Amino acid sequence: MAARVIDGKAVAAALRAEVAARAATLPYAPGLAVVLVGEDPASQVYVRNKERAAKAAGFASETIRLPASASQAELLALIARLNRDPAVDGILVQLPLPAGIDPQAVIRAIDPAKDVDGFHPDNVAALALGTPFLVPCTPRGVMKLLAAAGIAPRGARALVLGRSNIVGRPMAALLLAADATVTIAHSRTRDLAAECRRAEILIAAVGRAEMVKGDWVSPGATVIDVGINRTAAGGLVGDVAYAEAAAVAGAITPVPGGVGPMTIACLLENTLIAAAARR
Ligand code: GUN
Repeated sequence: MAARVIDGKAVAAALRAEVAARAATLPYAPGLAVVLVGEDPASQVYVRNKERAAKAAGFASETIRLPASASQAELLALIARLNRDPAVDGILVQLPLPAGIDPQAVIRAIDPAKDVDGFHPDNVAALALGTPFLVPCTPRGVMKLLAAAGIAPRGARALVLGRSNIVGRPMAALLLAADATVTIAHSRTRDLAAECRRAEILIAAVGRAEMVKGDWVSPGATVIDVGINRTAAGGLVGDVAYAEAAAVAGAITPVPGGVGPMTIACLLENTLIAAAARR
């Protein structure tokens, strides 16, 4: 039987509407500052979409663009100004940063109370300790997709493929907090296919086009595809060979239209959470 398709666009639209409705009850508009350094084409698209979504939710949003030649000191000075600005509730510095700027130094400079990416060590620690405050947007969105699809992590064997700070590691922490039995697999894992086959919930976040094959998926498993890879022909594919996997899985997210829309919706929710906590 073909897998149920988890409609991330619909779940994200509902969350965005809920965030906009909650924001409308506040006596002020939540403020989001998005910082883009350089001209990375994918980052420009992401940043434009984030600003558009923030405005649509009634937020006060500004995008600050620095040239690729900007120094780390200039970026840190900008962050210090945004940290002090009472109208700014959330600060997001789009990654990757140009060579010569240390992303960890930049992330550490952001006020943890305004860290809507959830990347600051204080927020990473809070998540690891089971007392989360601001949680990275993409894994947060995956948890909401699972909930919307009626898939309970409790007691389930979950496999996270990928160990990035942005997705894999926080994803594993969230699944563990939800009582899943969590394995993290990565490029050095022996027999990736066998590890994947054991999973009841399989989260692919490696950034390798169509790496997860149909015979890596256990019949009836839930497959969440975080990958967004551009093909030579200009199309978008995930980290999962979709048609093959959908023939075996119980539920699956498409690319596009799965996890992607949830990331932005969760960024808006994080900004609302930061705003409500600050003022
Ligand atoms: N680049 C790719 N994903 C992300 C993200 O979630 N946040 C930021 N700041 N940059 C990214």
